Amino acid sequence: MTDRARRATRAARAGLGRLQDVSGEGLVPPLELASVRAYAGLAALDRGMEGRDAYRRYGTETVVLLEEEIAALECAGDEPPLARATASGQAALLLAVTLLLAPRRRRVIVVRPCYGSSDALIAGPLGALGVQLTTVDLPSPAEGDHAQLVAKVLGDDVAAVVAEVVTNPLMGVVDIPAIAAATHAAGASLVVDSTLATPFLFQPFAHGADVVFHSLTKHLSGHSDVLGGIVLVRPDVEAAGWLDGYARLMGIGLGPFDAWLTLRGLRTAALRIERGSENAATLARRLAAAPGVRAVHYPGSRGGADEERAARLLPDGRGPMFSLELDGGVDAASAFVQRLDGVRLAPSLGDVATTVSHPALSSHRSLSREQRAALGITDGLVRVSTGIEPIDSLCAEFAAALGGTM
Ligand SMILES: Cc1ncc(COP(=O)(O)O)c(C=O)c1O
Repeated sequence: MTDRARRATRAARAGLGRLQDVSGEGLVPPLELASVRAYAGLAALDRGMEGRDAYRRYGTETVVLLEEEIAALECAGDEPPLARATASGQAALLLAVTLLLAPRRRRVIVVRPCYGSSDALIAGPLGALGVQLTTVDLPSPAEGDHAQLVAKVLGDDVAAVVAEVVTNPLMGVVDIPAIAAATHAAGASLVVDSTLATPFLFQPFAHGADVVFHSLTKHLSGHSDVLGGIVLVRPDVEAAGWLDGYARLMGIGLGPFDAWLTLRGLRTAALRIERGSENAATLARRLAAAPGVRAVHYPGSRGGADEERAARLLPDGRGPMFSLELDGGVDAASAFVQRLDGVRLAPSLGDVATTVSHPALSSHRSLSREQRAALGITDGLVRVSTGIEPIDSLCAEFAAALGGTM
């Protein structure tokens, strides 16, 4: 079985593999809502306190099950990574960075463009605790030697480099293996936000990541009814030793109902990602030639080094996301989303149905207009997260929104 088939099979059966009662039990896992367990005596309490499920802040059976399933999907060696599910993707980044900070390593490098609140979290709440942020802005279009750009600002005070493999919202492909090598040469750790790529399209641990995190809110749960995140740490990384303790102390764990919904969403995730990726590839190609569209940003679409990186790092598909730049700025973007009948405007991504968002007003609104312009994020930019609808419906709706055929 190929790795791709193994992951898709495992995901389709997420949570099903634990038959303990031979007289029969639910095919899908139960949902435990209790925030604390009761014990028959001190010996049982003592055993309970050693595990995860005595108190909800430590984890519940449903949360532990989800962590095991995603750890299996992200496993790149013999031993799966350690995993802790968190209350949001932001909480996952907070936990990941906190794990890696050390007395003499208190600087964090964030590779941009990235999700707008990632660098804001490090500059704001973590900055107030003395953590320093250094940003590395990749050139637009995403050419250039990514490792060299990061290496220039690395030093022995750096705890972590944070990067996404597919940048949000311009869909550039980042050279994660080269950045990992530069990061490790400086004694720092590489944290990869793999939210856009998912374990089905990119395996960060196989490409040098030490810590990986996802927003579960997006593709993995897939139905816009969950807020969650997860941190995964390679078992041989020192910080793996304090992941559980930090997660307990910070009190940022995922709730059981969100974990249960994510397990359910995970079962269709491989299929949703495959279909969404096919839809994105077709729509991006058709839209690139449509009137009123100045540019389409899709992984690899810039050609050259971007295409080389996409082919090398995303061989199983380039994902269900792209952005389009409309002639006419914010007015054109506004008219376009108004006319996109049936496709909803929502400041998120990864739903089973196609949605669009406007990065300047949502994910990147904390940046100034000038900062956005420097990153290539204009007011005419619309980001598309493709769902599983038939491609003919999507093409007809997008063509109508552009006022013609395509
Ligand atoms: C790439 C990426 N990472 C992290 C996050 C943060 O996730 P959450 O909203 O679950 O905190 C988002 C949210 O949009 C995102 O798009």
